[in-house]
Amino acid sequence: MFDKNLIDLSVMSTDQIDKIIRKAKKIMQSPADYRHACDGKILATLFYEPSTRTQMSFQTAMLKLGGRTIGFDNPMNSSVSKGESLKDTITIVGEYADIIAIRHPVEGTAAAASLYAGVPVINCGDGGHLHPTQTLADIITLSCEKGRLDNLRVGVCGDLLNGRTVHSLIKTLAKYPNNSFVHISTKELSVPLYVIDILEKNGCKYEISHSLADAITDLDVLYMTRIQRERFASEEDYQAQKNVFVLDKEKLDKAREDMIILHPLPRVNEITVDIDDDPRALYFKQAQYGMYGRMALILLLLQDDEFFVENRPFVVSNHHCNNPKCITQQEPYLPNLSYEKLGMVMCGYCDKRID
Ligand code: NCD
Repeated sequence: MFDKNLIDLSVMSTDQIDKIIRKAKKIMQSPADYRHACDGKILATLFYEPSTRTQMSFQTAMLKLGGRTIGFDNPMNSSVSKGESLKDTITIVGEYADIIAIRHPVEGTAAAASLYAGVPVINCGDGGHLHPTQTLADIITLSCEKGRLDNLRVGVCGDLLNGRTVHSLIKTLAKYPNNSFVHISTKELSVPLYVIDILEKNGCKYEISHSLADAITDLDVLYMTRIQRERFASEEDYQAQKNVFVLDKEKLDKAREDMIILHPLPRVNEITVDIDDDPRALYFKQAQYGMYGRMALILLLLQDDEFFVENRPFVVSNHHCNNPKCITQQEPYLPNLSYEKLGMVMCGYCDKRID
């Protein structure tokens, strides 16, 4: 496996994460200095799932660095529609491009792609699993707007089960000291167990709340999320969950003046539009920070020999993952990869327990 991939931000050391943030801030200060930094380089964006911000901000990031982009945003216009395997597509694209940004509806796909690419692979969202470059956008926003990544009380609200941005954010913030979380969701959409395990392992405090109005009063950050309609088994299940948590002016009045509101976007109706002008609403600015984070990431992955992403200690094993949402269920040639955590065997693609 190529060792310069970004599959999961939380496996990186905080030193390496801080390096990306520092680089992003430098680019923000003098973008003109980076206009030719990636001359002659090609980024491939392979988006098997819809996207506005992530795909376009990656493309913009590469163009602003002087590089060029290739790719697709509708796999049905590629040979995927003819039944081509992920392995074959990635092997070929890895020959064309210097770096690959991939989004896919199935968990563990970016990790699987990294086995065959031969160039750095960036996970732009793999099913309901992870979304590390959104987390980059989130933590650059926190660093610039709150001045710290530690000692934060963070409320995460909405679809905490299927929202990959939440999983990546919690896992990453759990690495910094004294962060605590309030999980605001219905019982059905609560944080998956493997993320809870990480909180516990890191000694992070977390509380569970079923009321946004109660929880909002003492937060530093409120991270709102969309109910992930596309990941529900039925429309009926989705209808039962939508509109349960809506941030409106009345609730925001109970929040502190220095609380900031983040949202990975797209918003559906979980934040009322009249809040957009409140100085605490930073979600549009967050998307801008994300583009600088992606510029920094591309530069570091392509040019900095001392920048590396720590590999998880995968082993090829006999353990086959049973998670129906895992890429191993769709691409049968993939080797069984696993690692051990707290005495349990976990899937190296989707992080679910397999023993
Ligand atoms: C998020 C995603 O795709 O997970 N969007 C994004 O990349 N900013 C959030 C979402 O779709 O709700």
